[in-house]
Amino acid sequence: MEAMKRTIDCGCLRKADAGRTVILNGWVHRKRDHGGIFFINMRDRYGITQVTVDTTVGGQAGLADICAELRNEFCIAVEGTVRSRPGDMVNPAMTTGEVEVLASKITILNRCEVLPFQIDEETTANEELRLKYRYLDLRSAAMQNRIRLRSEVTFAVREWMTANGFYEIETPTFIRSTPEGARDYLVPSRLYPGKFYALPQSPQLYKQLLMVSGFDKYFQIARCYRDEDARGDRQPEFTQIDIEMSFVSRDDILAMTEGMLVHVFKKTIGIDLPPHFRRLTHEEAMERYGSDKPDLRFDMPLQNFAPYVEAGGFQAFKDALAQGETERQTAAAKGVTIAGGGVKALVVKGKADYSRKQIEELESHAKIYKARGMAWMKVTENAGLEGGVAKFFTENAAQIISGLGATPGDLILIVADSRRNVANTALGAVRSKLGKDLNLCDTSRFEFVWIVDFPLFEFNEEENRWEAAHHLFSWPQEQYHATLESDPGAVKGDLYDLVLNGYELASGSIRIHDPVLQQRIFSIAGFDPAEAEKRFGFLTGAFKFGAPPHGGIAPGLDRLVMLMAGQTSIKEVITFPKNSFAEGLMDDSPGEIDQKQLDELRITIRKEK
Ligand code: AMO
Repeated sequence: MEAMKRTIDCGCLRKADAGRTVILNGWVHRKRDHGGIFFINMRDRYGITQVTVDTTVGGQAGLADICAELRNEFCIAVEGTVRSRPGDMVNPAMTTGEVEVLASKITILNRCEVLPFQIDEETTANEELRLKYRYLDLRSAAMQNRIRLRSEVTFAVREWMTANGFYEIETPTFIRSTPEGARDYLVPSRLYPGKFYALPQSPQLYKQLLMVSGFDKYFQIARCYRDEDARGDRQPEFTQIDIEMSFVSRDDILAMTEGMLVHVFKKTIGIDLPPHFRRLTHEEAMERYGSDKPDLRFDMPLQNFAPYVEAGGFQAFKDALAQGETERQTAAAKGVTIAGGGVKALVVKGKADYSRKQIEELESHAKIYKARGMAWMKVTENAGLEGGVAKFFTENAAQIISGLGATPGDLILIVADSRRNVANTALGAVRSKLGKDLNLCDTSRFEFVWIVDFPLFEFNEEENRWEAAHHLFSWPQEQYHATLESDPGAVKGDLYDLVLNGYELASGSIRIHDPVLQQRIFSIAGFDPAEAEKRFGFLTGAFKFGAPPHGGIAPGLDRLVMLMAGQTSIKEVITFPKNSFAEGLMDDSPGEIDQKQLDELRITIRKEK
């Protein structure tokens, strides 16, 4: 190799280099044979250079045979002289397009078998093949660019965090199970048969303990492991930019995150983000967009249709409101706050020409989100209402049209439910679908929005109990401390999400640092004191030793890079991701293990009948 070690990479030669003797190492990207004259596009991480071999004029012995043997993705070394291409041969699409290397010597460093797919700009092979031969898939220019972006983003994060006084600190990956809502991945202990470590769902408890230890400002590019169903924006193992700070309030964390992201976007993709991102309360987000992660690249808000229900003749709407009000009053009598019923409308501009089939498709989508149905009507050319439920609203049609800001040619969609949240969520899902179907999102835009003032607890209807909406360590806002137990549903927490283009990019909160308050939260979430002590005793114990007030956040690195790269799946920015069934198709994981290993761990596999 020494003799043919590269002197230059495949991306850097320009006209001014003409006359130089160089050695290139890389892969055969494409080869063309023009009767004894070969054109080889040679590729490495830095680019592509055209190598020209004229086997008709002598040179290295056997050069013609070597050229004939070369196939795509052979790994080769080429020695030659740089020369300018004649004007009509210049290729403006290549950064090295003004020159070529006239080869005098070629060495085959390694051969390549028949490829399972071509290495193109962006591989078009199916996902299964791409994942099985991921090392080849990663050779495409598109994957190389995305992995480069990921590296640059990670570096820019470190650069900003370090410059702003944060220490990068590692926390363990074999831990006692940390509750983050998903299932844990477990690691059996050989030394303590029957006992298990858990892989961290996040470093949550450890970063809080680092605050107790006085580190003040912590960050970590942290691997996290969650045994949950994979989706486009989820993987069983993923990476967080995990952050925690002491002696801060919510707005300090938000400002810090904004500063970091402004730096990262500018430094890596040259985009100027606004210094501050807009904010919506959780309630505003749900009422206006029917989602706690609204895509704000388009507006199309949900509107309140309830004021028009009474004067209209449509009984289903009236029933939803009446039943919702009864349920609200019953709950209120027990001191519990719930929202009551809701009738929400969406004005779809210029879509009065939607067919019944198209509207039914939207209705089916709403039903996935528990809507019982979706009503519709159209605004006619003479500013009346027609179709669907229009016949029930002839009396107040003009009022409805002007109140909703609708104009002739618009389609109005309405969902009513005795649970306001169902009406909001179902119509919000229809809004999101229309955003995609109608191409309402400008793909070059990055629309950040903070969602703040989340409810601290959610009611788990299946298990009939309250559980933490985020995790158990978030600070309930001061004004709710007296009524935590009597009315958990009303409690707002100091917790926040950062949403980007409809994806939850980051989550965080101000934490509880008071052991007594922490115990109260545990017991509302159904952990009796003994259970809480067993699982979280090391945290609550630490809080008894002068724990500082603290808070933090964790942006998902994979999601961040995915969105910056204009992708919709985090697999596109992860080198070796799992497929949707949590399988590693390349290394065939998870795999069976030897009986010897099982014996050492004292594990017996139960055969399912
Ligand atoms: P949370 O569970 O909301 O919060 O996660 C924070 C962020 O991590 C990313 N994320 C994921 N990315 C890919 N695949 C997954 N399976 C996955 N799950 C989460 C998302 C998400 O917004 N400890 C808290 C943070 C804190 O309170 O400081 C936590 O982990 O981008």
